[in-house]
Amino acid sequence: MSQLHILKHPLIDHKLTIIRNKETKTKEFRETVSEIAALLTYEITRNLSLKEKEIETPVSKTLGFELKDEVVIVPILRAGLGMVDGIHNLIPSAKIGHIGLYRDEETLEAKEYYAKFPLEIENSIVLLIDPMLATGNSTIKAIEILKEKKAKEIIFVGLVGSPEGVEKLQKAYPETKIYLAALDEKLNENGYIVPGLGDAGDRLFGTK
Ligand code: URA
Repeated sequence: MSQLHILKHPLIDHKLTIIRNKETKTKEFRETVSEIAALLTYEITRNLSLKEKEIETPVSKTLGFELKDEVVIVPILRAGLGMVDGIHNLIPSAKIGHIGLYRDEETLEAKEYYAKFPLEIENSIVLLIDPMLATGNSTIKAIEILKEKKAKEIIFVGLVGSPEGVEKLQKAYPETKIYLAALDEKLNENGYIVPGLGDAGDRLFGTK
């Protein structure tokens, strides 16, 4: 079974067009990224396991449900931060970890400069988030770090992917589920996704 899921939904396509548009300003860009992240989450969490929980309504006892596993949201800094609130609003019990990576200019490898996780990371379901799955290098490095922390399952959630990045990630970690709002045409010579949406971090934080 393919682990790549491109989530098609009219609202996602509508909102994706807003963030692709170069005329969209920082505030609307940031809000729309968060909204798309929430829409993706609704679909991604469809198959999460539940455990029974006995509660009392104002009227009687009843058997309800709660999520069986801890969910940990892990944004890759800095652009991943833009998707955190949208996901966290839907899963408020989730704890949040952070991974910071930089590119070694000699080897072009992704290197860790920051990693901090909640204790619950072991045996948790991790939603690893980064809006852009471009070369795949940082996602692969982040998964390597999360595996060392013994996460039970790692699910990658992004907005836009490149065929090159998806292929590389699938080769490195075939078991990892990949959820995207769109799979674009290609990477250009500068490592940008085409048509993409430009530099997600700059557009989220107004740094350009
Ligand atoms: N990172 C971005 O922010 N945009 C791209 O197109 C590729 C990587």
